[in-house]
Amino acid sequence: MQIRSAEFVKSAVSREQYPDTELPEIAFAGRSNVGKSSLINTLVNRKRLVKTGSTPGRTQLLNFFVINDRLSFVDLPGYGYARVPAAIRKKWGPMIETYLRTREPLRGVVLIMDIRRVPGEEELRFLEWLSLRGLPCLRVITKADKLSKNKQNQQLARIRGALATAGGNPGLHLFSSKTRKGREALWSAITDLAGGETTEAT
Ligand code: GTP
Ligand code: MG
Repeated sequence: MQIRSAEFVKSAVSREQYPDTELPEIAFAGRSNVGKSSLINTLVNRKRLVKTGSTPGRTQLLNFFVINDRLSFVDLPGYGYARVPAAIRKKWGPMIETYLRTREPLRGVVLIMDIRRVPGEEELRFLEWLSLRGLPCLRVITKADKLSKNKQNQQLARIRGALATAGGNPGLHLFSSKTRKGREALWSAITDLAGGETTEAT
């Protein structure tokens, strides 16, 4: 994917603050610290378009970006990380849910999971919730570089097993923000979700 431009638009908490745009939109979700913001930076070839870091809960708002003037990305705060204060976690749930339920240009969600962790209740509930609402979801397994090739395959099999009962497309995208593994394949799936060509401005 050729990136001509990638710009931060704004942060939002509530509906009135969402940017007024009709560009097809893709949201990135997953547990805190799983690598959502890093994945977006890797997709758009930028080191620091989105803030990343080792402190869980780095992303606390809905952050909107525009790519190539054709596509909108939303970096969502992470969920389910014990080290994020309960008061903040309580706010994030409704903020994310309202966004996913009401955002008209939203075409799909990229759910990011860590290859070292077998997904649990939270991921299953999230996938079922999306599928009930007819929101397509791409499943990405990131931090692939943290495991050897053999261990990667073992973990992928376990993760596939854990997600087998969830609705939606069962395919998994293996990814690494460190090595950029899987970047092109994920772009092509995102482009499909967004409804076609995303590189040229009209
Ligand atoms: P929150 O905003 O807190 O929910 O986190 P996040 O999901 O946006 O994670 P972020 O991208 O900030 O990354 C968290 C940590 O994991 C950082 O220290 C990153 O450098 C590291 N990280 C992210 N992706 C990868 C990856 O593919 N490989 C490796 N080795 N480290 C990664
Ligand atoms: Mg983040």
